[in-house]
Amino acid sequence: MSDFFSEKLIPQLETNHIGKNIVYLEETDSTNALAKREKNYPCGTVFVAGKQTDGRGRSGRVWQSNDENALYMSILIKPDISPQKISSITLVFGLAVFNALRGYADIGIKWPNDIILDNKKLAGILCEMSGNEEKIDYVVCGVGVNVNNTSFHDEIKDIATSLRIQTGKGYEITEIAAEILNEFDILYAEFLNKGLDDILIKYKNNCITLQKDVKVIMNNTETDAYALDITSEGGLLVRIDKEEKVIVSGEASIRGIIGYA
Ligand code: BTN
Repeated sequence: MSDFFSEKLIPQLETNHIGKNIVYLEETDSTNALAKREKNYPCGTVFVAGKQTDGRGRSGRVWQSNDENALYMSILIKPDISPQKISSITLVFGLAVFNALRGYADIGIKWPNDIILDNKKLAGILCEMSGNEEKIDYVVCGVGVNVNNTSFHDEIKDIATSLRIQTGKGYEITEIAAEILNEFDILYAEFLNKGLDDILIKYKNNCITLQKDVKVIMNNTETDAYALDITSEGGLLVRIDKEEKVIVSGEASIRGIIGYA
């Protein structure tokens, strides 16, 4: 049986591969958790929820999901590539979300994949992988976009923003979802066929973390650093006390010297 969300979303899709199956639930614990439970669904299946009761962010953080003002969406993919190459999917998805949202406001990407508007977080991405050193079973690319939110919980109110807060307008959530899926369909195919090189050029052009003083937060310790570049595998090359070091996504958080980004 079709639902209201999918009925609106499907006509806006221009994809070859992503979103041929849509699973919409009014409420679930977490669309990433749902996608992992339903890992036998075909590659490209999209899971969307109106609300999440246990929305998850990176590093085990909570993702505010208790109302229907935001987009909560996860895509299940099963890429047939070497597991060594898959960690950069998080940058590929980050660029897709950036491309989808750039028409709405003046945004940037904070490495590895936060979407930043007015020095605050507009969207967050959580990519989770399952497999071993030889073979990837599946990858779940989850995104939360603050669309029509007018307020945030106390813990995040200073670092989160929404399209509504910034532009004063409300938006159709299916439209945002469709833009993301259309962009990801293109970039995912490019990543599988040609690798990361060209995608990385576009990513770097829009990455606001580079050529800046940053704080690297690892194991509850903050270290001052200078962000130099993104490596060919998608790591962040920083200089700390005259020494260069590559930070791998998932290993540390990056903050601006003043404010979140
Ligand atoms: C971050 O910490 O920046 C990542 C946030 C990711 C949130 C999204 S909302 C849809 C999907 N389901 C989850 O539980 N998390 C992701």
